Amino acid sequence: MQQTAQTHAEAYLKLCRISKSFAHNGLLLPVLDRLDLEVRTGELVALIGPSGCGKTTLLHIISGITPYDAGTILLNGRDLIDPHRHVAYMQQKDLLLPWRTALGNTLLGPEIAGEDLKRAEDEALQLFQEFGLAGFEHLYPAQLSSGMRQRVALIRTILCHREILLLDEPFSALDALTRSQLHQWLLHAWQRFRHTIIFVTHDVEEALVLADRVYVLTERPTNVKAIVDVPLPRPRQSTLPEFVQLKATLLRWLHVERDGFL
Ligand SMILES: Nc1ncnc2c1ncn2[C@@H]1O[C@H](COP(=O)(O)OP(=O)(O)OP(=O)(O)O)[C@@H](O)[C@H]1O
Ligand SMILES: [Mg+2]
Repeated sequence: MQQTAQTHAEAYLKLCRISKSFAHNGLLLPVLDRLDLEVRTGELVALIGPSGCGKTTLLHIISGITPYDAGTILLNGRDLIDPHRHVAYMQQKDLLLPWRTALGNTLLGPEIAGEDLKRAEDEALQLFQEFGLAGFEHLYPAQLSSGMRQRVALIRTILCHREILLLDEPFSALDALTRSQLHQWLLHAWQRFRHTIIFVTHDVEEALVLADRVYVLTERPTNVKAIVDVPLPRPRQSTLPEFVQLKATLLRWLHVERDGFL
């Protein structure tokens, strides 16, 4: 396969004691409570936790969309003051622009950054091929299936050419087969570009198929309940005894009350 992009630079992300509250009807809703998170260069880390615990808020904070109240975010040991230069974010909803074709949507990042568009288009076309989307480049989002839209959104995120990717439930609401194909596509892209990736999921198996490590988050105000290493070679079979055992561990952690014990 032809290589079109360089692997990415060092991207060691460290969040220290991040806190965030939102004001609701004059009351303060504490969402994140002195949360620590560490993602090493080229690591694929999953976040899993109850609905409404603050996973999207955390990604918003890392990407610079939402300010945080307290704590520190370090990239390679320095304050992350310009997240837009380092972080590409695939939001929970695919948010493709309906008036742009699939290809036009993926070129948004390079266009905004003023990059060489011919080169970006060549790269995009190759990714369309690799992601099973050849022939669909000139269709509009409304003419694509949801699995195709997710892939277009993923290609758009990759083409932002940032070393860190944040993916918020990138494969939700898809059938099992499409999901499994998307996992392989993501792993393929990750092994090729060596992005540092944080992704949110509600699916324990998905976390174990993809991640090097899984952060299990508590209920709000949210902190880290457990960090589970997944030292299994890829591709991972969900039927292997080691996988089944890790799944049981993760499920137990998810159901343990805050500050409880296994
Ligand atoms: N901009 C905002 N203003 C006020 N409250 C907010 C804002 N964004 C999020 N919240 C609140 O913060 C909490 C966490 O929301 P968030 O979307 O981060 O959760 P989540 O873990 O991503 O949930 P889900 O798994 O359902 O996607 C919720 O109670 C939500 O109402
Ligand atoms: Mg969310």
